[in-house]
Amino acid sequence: MFVCCYHTGAQRTMKYSCILCISHLVIMTWCAAQEGKPPNFVLIVVDDLGIGDLGCYGNTTLRTSNIDQLAKEGVKLTQHIGAAPLCTPSRAAFLTGRYPVRSGMTGHARPGVFIIAGSSGGLPTKELTFAKLAKQQGYSTALIGKWHLGLNCERSDDLCHHPHNHGFDHFYGIPLTHLPDCKPGHGTIFINIFIHIPSRSLMVGVATVAILHVLGVIVVLRKVILAAAFLAALLVAFAGLFLLTFPHFNCLLIRNREVVEQPYVSENLTQKMTQEAVEFLEMNSRQPFLLFFSFIQVHSALFVSPRFKGRSKHGLYGDAVEEVDWSVGKIMETLDHLKLRDNTLVYVTSDNGPHLEVVFKGEMHGGFNGIYKAGKSTNWEGGIRVPAVLRWPGVIPANKQIDEPTSNMDIFPTVVNLVGAAIPEDREIDGRDLMPLVLGQVERSEHEFLFHYCNSYLNAVRWHPANSNSIWKMFFFTPNFYPENSTTCTHTHICFCTKEYVTAHDPPLLFDLSKDPSERSPLSPDNEPLYKEVLSSIREAVHRHTLTLTDVPNQLSLPNLIWNPWLQPCCSSPFQLCQCEKDRM
Ligand SMILES: *[C@@H]1O[C@H](CO)[C@@H](O)[C@H](O)[C@H]1NC(C)=O
Ligand SMILES: *[C@@H]1O[C@H](CO)[C@@H](O)[C@H](O)[C@H]1NC(C)=O
Ligand SMILES: *[C@@H]1O[C@H](CO)[C@@H](O)[C@H](O)[C@H]1NC(C)=O
Repeated sequence: MFVCCYHTGAQRTMKYSCILCISHLVIMTWCAAQEGKPPNFVLIVVDDLGIGDLGCYGNTTLRTSNIDQLAKEGVKLTQHIGAAPLCTPSRAAFLTGRYPVRSGMTGHARPGVFIIAGSSGGLPTKELTFAKLAKQQGYSTALIGKWHLGLNCERSDDLCHHPHNHGFDHFYGIPLTHLPDCKPGHGTIFINIFIHIPSRSLMVGVATVAILHVLGVIVVLRKVILAAAFLAALLVAFAGLFLLTFPHFNCLLIRNREVVEQPYVSENLTQKMTQEAVEFLEMNSRQPFLLFFSFIQVHSALFVSPRFKGRSKHGLYGDAVEEVDWSVGKIMETLDHLKLRDNTLVYVTSDNGPHLEVVFKGEMHGGFNGIYKAGKSTNWEGGIRVPAVLRWPGVIPANKQIDEPTSNMDIFPTVVNLVGAAIPEDREIDGRDLMPLVLGQVERSEHEFLFHYCNSYLNAVRWHPANSNSIWKMFFFTPNFYPENSTTCTHTHICFCTKEYVTAHDPPLLFDLSKDPSERSPLSPDNEPLYKEVLSSIREAVHRHTLTLTDVPNQLSLPNLIWNPWLQPCCSSPFQLCQCEKDRM
């Protein structure tokens, strides 16, 4: 196809010389005439959508006709794996084609994602995103929606981690994720995350001293009691102030480099984003473009615009999924109307599994996983197996299902090859070009092994041996669920990966997903003759993989996660609580 043309190198040697420029244009035109144009891209990521929420994946009661239609006109992947079970690391991997440990976008403690806009961590600019490479090839690029990969480094306006520095010409959306704190009346994420921080021993210690003092066994000086009470009051006041002002500091809507609404009102966000996407497509219909449309729905706290409220059979969650589907339909309609359908590659996926712990006033606000176990924040299939459809009429076959393991990291090499850029050779790329598999040129995925990390910790490994249909998955540890026999961590709101919250397995737990996709019955050396062989192959693969890891700064370390007041974006003055509303609609 056109790819050979794009490898002439004309583009890369092109500097400011007009002659080269003209010859480049001639080559481009010749290429286009000879072999068809490189495609445009519309890459759509829904937030926390479950694989069981879509009609094309078996849901019979939610109406997702637009996404289902894409599956009919293209390829549906049934074993598409998010590179991480949480937003920030999964999205870092998606954009760079690399396991998030390679860019330092995985935490060691909790939380494993950014939750404060004025923090200093983020996707390092050394990383190459597919958008950056597409832009270098002349593509017009935009990110509309959620970013969640950092903002500032040293000042409140250096925007070092901003999408502009990662290859997106245009940005309209939110720098973080949509937190409960951004919707009045939905509580705060901090209760869930920090409620377990005052260590039990500290509380037991204070209580013991208090009882002993009351009983007269020991005498605590009045001064000490007063000082402790004063400290505690200060702490409570600080925490209260923090929670009250949190939305003003963290719920920002940004257009390019400007904060346009603070705190934003979520209700019509999907409507506004869709409008923005339609305008972007209209403005760029005559040149190659790449649109990354990153839904803010269906993350909690849920929201929908008035016209979708109460429309679905599944409460507010179902309403939100149906608004997402409507928005996808609008974008597809625009492609049709601009006659871009045939030369646009469309991809729709979710960043990770549904958030099963969110129940609001007795109503389920997380999605559905079909037959898969557990959800977001775990590496059980329910946390990482995400829906994925690809459409490129006339190139990608219609109505085809592919069951081989694929990853959201595969979009990187797929896009980079299609735009005619070179795959970077100075770094490990973990994604694999999807086109040979999707076009039916090969039967097997190139992903013999996939490594499943929980934050920075290697949690499980998937092995699809070249000579067998088995999909082995081996867990080195699993999260401790609460309540005990559920598949959720309701006590902590999400499952954590650190020692206190998991059970280590030695020998590791083994499943064969080809026979047991729901991960019900672990295999052991006693009932699986291949257990030892699988274990040693996986150990060897882990060893080889570990050798490719290098030490990188941890972007989610505590100093990189906490609030730095001097990094706080603020669209009025702090005394007006950074409030503003400059956006239309
Ligand atoms: C469809 O999705 C909803 C919302 O997540 C879920 O409650 C329901 O069980 C699903 N239905 C089917 C038939 O899969
Ligand atoms: C959202 O849009 C509807 C009209 O579609 C409007 O009535 C409503 O006031 C808007 N909400 C906000 C918060 O702007
Ligand atoms: C959980 O399941 C196990 C095995 O079925 C059972 O022995 C145990 O009592 C259950 N625990 C609770 C809290 O229900």
